[in-house]
Amino acid sequence: MHCFLTDESSERYLIDELRRAFPDGAHEQVAEQWVSSDAAMLDAPLAFARQTLPNATVIDIASINAAAGQLLAATMDALPEGQPWRLAVVPAYGFGNAGTNRCQLIAGAFRERLQKKRRALLRNLMTDEGPFDAQTSFVQLYLIAPDKGVLSVAPAPLPYEARRNVWPFAKGELPIAVDKAAPSRAFSKVVEAEHRLGLQIAKGDTCVDLGASPGSWSYVAIHRGAHVTSIDRSPLRDDLMRHPRLTFQQGDAFKFKPAAPVDWLLCDVIAAPERNIGLLLEWVRERRARRFIVSIKFKGDTEYPLIDQLKTDLPAHCSEFYLTRLCANKNEVCAFGIVRD
Ligand SMILES: C[S@@+](CC[C@H](N)C(=O)[O-])C[C@H]1O[C@@H](n2cnc3c(N)ncnc32)[C@H](O)[C@@H]1O
Repeated sequence: MHCFLTDESSERYLIDELRRAFPDGAHEQVAEQWVSSDAAMLDAPLAFARQTLPNATVIDIASINAAAGQLLAATMDALPEGQPWRLAVVPAYGFGNAGTNRCQLIAGAFRERLQKKRRALLRNLMTDEGPFDAQTSFVQLYLIAPDKGVLSVAPAPLPYEARRNVWPFAKGELPIAVDKAAPSRAFSKVVEAEHRLGLQIAKGDTCVDLGASPGSWSYVAIHRGAHVTSIDRSPLRDDLMRHPRLTFQQGDAFKFKPAAPVDWLLCDVIAAPERNIGLLLEWVRERRARRFIVSIKFKGDTEYPLIDQLKTDLPAHCSEFYLTRLCANKNEVCAFGIVRD
């Protein structure tokens, strides 16, 4: 059984998404913001899963020491020897800081046990939160009540294979980036997508930004040192319009074709979801961009199944392909990835 954490009130969207992907599976809401599933595969993205706990079991937590003992028992023979692994003990009940202290105590008691009984394992415990590689294992314990937890032990290479759903940071959440100098808050979407992809727009990169006004995504690219062609019906903020590395073209984003392939397609056009999906597929099929960050925006919730076309059609063209509702997204999901050469 896999367990998934969803955004508030999003359980049914994830269950629908799971049902479309695995019609014969059993998928159900088990608690507020928690869904369980016997889906066999986790390699395709689930846009409405905020975090994924593969092969999870629900455990009783009688005490901090008992929880540490259960973690030790579940971990010590399950992880590949001599390889890095990460640990997340995360509070997921109540409000505010509820459970934080308890989780820290459990993680501390677990480390003490490792120190005494499995020192080699402790030496390979890493604390970074970068994207998973094929060598790294991941142990997650989410406290869903003071005396109940969801425990997941995912030996390598599972976290890497399931990296579109298993995020290396707690609850799959990233803080919304803030920059008061950016033209709008939309700025945080492109920063979050870069972080999740583990790759930033770099100095000297060429970018096309479709639906660019007032210019936050272009602003990020310019700040990274890229050259940007921005397309919109409306101009960008004045300082961006004057920037020597930015070229503005007034017009229809759906008609624009770059003269030569670019490093990044950025697209945040407000349009029907099928139009942005079609645009992204056309750009990757024709290899017009090497990487992409594209918003898919919805009116209401009946259009969500349209994203399945991306899951079907993009993998053939992409070496990396993510599809998720960003923390910075409202009624949107974001597709980002790397196009095959
Ligand atoms: C959400 S805003 C983009 C915000 C921008 N990413 C930013 O960070 O500042 C969507 C933009 O899409 C533009 N847009 C909508 N349809 C378009 C089209 N067919 N061609 C060009 N721009 C379009 C709108 O003018 C609007 O500026």
